[in-house]
Amino acid sequence: MTEIKSKEIRFASAPEGMPNDSNFELAEVTIPEPKDGEFVVKNLWMSVDPYMRGRMTDRKSYIGGFVVGNALEGGAIGKVVQSNNSNFPEGTYVSSMLGWREYFLSNGDMMSPLEVHDGVPLQAYLGVMGMPGLTAYAGLFKIADLKEGENVFVSAASGAVGATVAQIAKLKGCYVVGSAGSDEKCKWLTDECGVDAVINYKSTDNLTATVAEKLPNGIDVYFENVGGDHLVAALESMNFFGRIALCGMISQYNATVMPEGPGNLINAVARSLRLEGFVVSNHFDQLGPFLNDMSGWIKDGKMQWKETIVEGLENAPQAFFNLFSGDNFGKMLVKLADD
Ligand SMILES: NC(=O)c1ccc[n+]([C@@H]2O[C@H](COP(=O)([O-])OP(=O)(O)OC[C@H]3O[C@@H](n4cnc5c(N)ncnc54)[C@H](OP(=O)(O)O)[C@@H]3O)[C@@H](O)[C@H]2O)c1
Repeated sequence: MTEIKSKEIRFASAPEGMPNDSNFELAEVTIPEPKDGEFVVKNLWMSVDPYMRGRMTDRKSYIGGFVVGNALEGGAIGKVVQSNNSNFPEGTYVSSMLGWREYFLSNGDMMSPLEVHDGVPLQAYLGVMGMPGLTAYAGLFKIADLKEGENVFVSAASGAVGATVAQIAKLKGCYVVGSAGSDEKCKWLTDECGVDAVINYKSTDNLTATVAEKLPNGIDVYFENVGGDHLVAALESMNFFGRIALCGMISQYNATVMPEGPGNLINAVARSLRLEGFVVSNHFDQLGPFLNDMSGWIKDGKMQWKETIVEGLENAPQAFFNLFSGDNFGKMLVKLADD
């Protein structure tokens, strides 16, 4: 078999504040020939995600930190190109956590062939049909206990998770307001996703007042992706027995000093609110119903999504940085190779 050289990006050092190029290192390795039971996967797409910033710190968390000197990890979709494993013949698509590299050798542990649904592009399994989509689904139904016709507010609403949240809530007959960081993103949310009202938080002087104005009947469910002033604003408008699904707080991921807590957290007591943090990996029991519902919504043209595609492994760090400046519009993807 032909020897395969593979580039990979390694974790070079832990960032202080906003990550930069010095925290990443490009290296090349030779992929060993697959022995009996092994196969080689060529990655076609990889994902960069905000949660990866958390793996660059030593904070106690649901997942271990990246190890300096090792290749980074993350969601990827690839294709088997050499195989000595009958469960993964050449041409099989696989979904793995072995992104940030062009190729890898596997013995099939922790891996299963990817079932590609009709009409769903491969890279969607890193977005609306993948981890971010499941996050939206589990967060809304299991954590926030969403009910028909409720008032929903979602932050980072044009992103991979947020846009899915907004549209699922609309499918459930809810009144939905989303916040995003540009007029273009806001326009897409209203025009294409059917969101009822939008807030460009970057051009709003008083986010708390704007949230109250756009949600005149208050908030039953706040889907929290951003933290900081967004959480304060949502807490001010929460209805009695409201639920806040704490999915992420991207505004704080690069903070070098502990951000101040929301001064109005007392509203959670006075209004009997439930605030619950969650991590998607604890909700894989929802995968079956999620894939079933989501593939149906996509087939019926009821789910829209945006993608920002960066080409080439060497540009993956910049794609990752762009998540924190809002330079992505929808799911941020790195295309590594043509299918
Ligand atoms: N709990 C879980 O299991 C889980 C799983 C997946 C994702 N998440 C969380 O869900 C959130 C969204 O993730 P995603 O993958 O869908 O990313 P995304 O929304 O596609 O991309 C990140 C977006 O966050 C916004 N943003 C960045 N910095 C911000 C700031 N300082 N203030 C306000 N908005 C800011 C930007 O959009 P704007 O232009 O709108 O600012 C950016 O495009 C993140 O907090 C992530 O950590 C959690």
